[in-house]
Amino acid sequence: MKIIAFAASNSRQSINKKLVSHAAEMLTGADVEVLDLNDFPAPIYSQDHEAEHGHPQAAKNFLEKLNSADAILISFAEHNGSYTAAYKSLFDWSSRIQKKVFDGKPVVALSTSPGPGGAKSVLEAATNSLPYFGATVKASLSIPSFHSNFDAATGELSNPELKQQLQAALANLKA
Ligand SMILES: Cc1cc2nc3c(=O)[nH]c(=O)nc-3n(C[C@H](O)[C@H](O)[C@H](O)COP(=O)(O)O)c2cc1C
Repeated sequence: MKIIAFAASNSRQSINKKLVSHAAEMLTGADVEVLDLNDFPAPIYSQDHEAEHGHPQAAKNFLEKLNSADAILISFAEHNGSYTAAYKSLFDWSSRIQKKVFDGKPVVALSTSPGPGGAKSVLEAATNSLPYFGATVKASLSIPSFHSNFDAATGELSNPELKQQLQAALANLKA
């Protein structure tokens, strides 16, 4: 089973990337590839740019990765209650090439932030909209107060209850 995983962030220090990488390690037996949005550099989505230049190769490459997967794991970073600009732009480009970006695939959606809200707002927005783009949302989980619940030294959740919840969410992806 091939799983594509990524954090919806372009931060090189992304805590969502740390979370999604930890989750990838927990998906034993699956072939998991963790993407970095920085490897898909595209201009900010613009209809004018699209009309003049077409679709950026980076967006085509990103879609190719998604299309190669049997299932998809995303951890959403929250900026001002919503998606990061980096993810939203790459997603917008992708949707112009293939409207059903997630093409009927099972998706588990995670989120985290340093604060107690755990990026719940963006996670709710994402889980509500993912089905319109072909995703079957199997589970979602917000991890609050990332730095208190994640051990940076081991790269794992240190809160056993949250770790168990993550394991349960991921089981839905493989089912
Ligand atoms: C422009 C900006 C807006 C932010 N807005 C929120 C927010 O609405 N809610 C939240 O929980 N954290 C917010 N944060 C803090 C992010 O959760 C924090 O930077 C986190 O590390 C982002 O995830 P990432 O490290 O995976 O990119 C914001 C950060 C920035 C830079």
